[in-house]
Amino acid sequence: MKNGFPEDFLWGGAIAANQTEGAFLEEGKGLTTVDLLPTGEKRFPIMLGNLPSFYPIEGEYYPSHEAIDFYYRYKDDIALFAEMGFKALRLSISWARIFPNGDDVEPNEAGLRFYDNLFDELRSKGIEPVVTLAHFDVPVHLVETYGSWKNRKLVHFFEKYAKTVFERYKNKVNYWLTFNEINMLLHLPFVGAGLVFEEGENELQVKYQAAHHQLVASALAVKAGHEINPDAKIGCMLAAGMTYAYSSNPNDVWDAMNKDRESFFFIDVQSRGEYPGYAKRFFQENAIELTMNEEDEEILKNHTVDYIGFSYYSSRVTSTDPEIQENTTSGNVFGSITNPYLEKSEWGWTIDSKGLRITANQLYDRYQKPLFIVENGLGAIDEVNSNGEVNDDYRIEYLRAHIHEMQEAINDGVELIGYTSWGPIDIVSASTGEMKKRYGYIYVERDNEGNGTLKRMKKKSFEWYKKVIDSNGENI
Ligand code: BG6
Repeated sequence: MKNGFPEDFLWGGAIAANQTEGAFLEEGKGLTTVDLLPTGEKRFPIMLGNLPSFYPIEGEYYPSHEAIDFYYRYKDDIALFAEMGFKALRLSISWARIFPNGDDVEPNEAGLRFYDNLFDELRSKGIEPVVTLAHFDVPVHLVETYGSWKNRKLVHFFEKYAKTVFERYKNKVNYWLTFNEINMLLHLPFVGAGLVFEEGENELQVKYQAAHHQLVASALAVKAGHEINPDAKIGCMLAAGMTYAYSSNPNDVWDAMNKDRESFFFIDVQSRGEYPGYAKRFFQENAIELTMNEEDEEILKNHTVDYIGFSYYSSRVTSTDPEIQENTTSGNVFGSITNPYLEKSEWGWTIDSKGLRITANQLYDRYQKPLFIVENGLGAIDEVNSNGEVNDDYRIEYLRAHIHEMQEAINDGVELIGYTSWGPIDIVSASTGEMKKRYGYIYVERDNEGNGTLKRMKKKSFEWYKKVIDSNGENI
């Protein structure tokens, strides 16, 4: 079969503000939700919505505060991305750099200038910025004062933020994404939507109300983005990965379908423009009552996304058999039963390259819109050997297999805009806050406790990915 990658395929990497920038309160930036996530045992309960304090607690280590110092080192890092031949860099804007409290009347000029310089730097190297508006960070003031996305007011604040950056960067940015992994809201509600639960609150009701607000905000952002720049491509972003039925028992198959629908629910609204029937039934059966404004249906219908961005790390497996259910594994925080046919990463995430082809086909069959793989990669422990090298053959192997399946998906007829692998430079892990869970082609000397020089170093995969891009996916 021929090499299916289009000439203008966007090869590159993906990062997020909170996992790279650091400088967490510099030049006017406000505190964001991620700045309240320490490493270690206390992290996970907060991610679920049990927040002990609206301020960082003395004695805890908060990895986002310095991260990998990208705020000050971005020029050098971009030079390395350019050396690999990147056509695109996916990154996010930190909302609290632009509106430190989220509800400010005027934006913070220093924050706007930072991203001006960053986008200029990328453009000067021929790298297309692909920009996420919200990647897991809500200004803390909005959480404390309004209850974050529980509150309809967030729709307005987000719309204002979106309009501000669309206007400012209309000549610099063509590709946008609204909410990173919007379905994560159901699994890690503090991470996805800044939700903090109060005693006795109906969590399901709160989550879906917040989801409705984000969906309307996303549609309003699409509207504004198109009005400001009719050529802008504005996408949604799903934490994807098909759910397989453990057996051919129809109950398992039905269960698998419903697990996928939990996630598709968001994209069905963002891409098709309306609440699907299965969601309405789910709301009814779970006594979920959404408060909607009269105009919401029309907003959702008229401002659907241009493309579907998604992350892919793992497929999942489900079963209705209680005995089989006991054998679970982690996987991008989605619970899953262990797949007996597949290996796992050091963090228990199932490795399933074929699953990428399956997932891409599944999404394309469902939405018939261009897809963009905006995250994929292997989080692994890297050792620097006595010659100062990192020989990350396992990473090359993982990526090679996934790129091969991506090519197969293109040959299946899936329209694919690009591939930005996750963390092309080592960054802070979103789920654990660790540095030792590394994804990069570039090593960053920094450990889990924040020690290290932050020096950058090319790994073996650096030269490999460079060749992949240079040959437009021919030479993997
Ligand atoms: C996705 C997120 O869930 O997975 C990223 O969008 C995250 O922010 C990535 O970093 C990998 O997860 P982790 O926990 O290994 O960093």
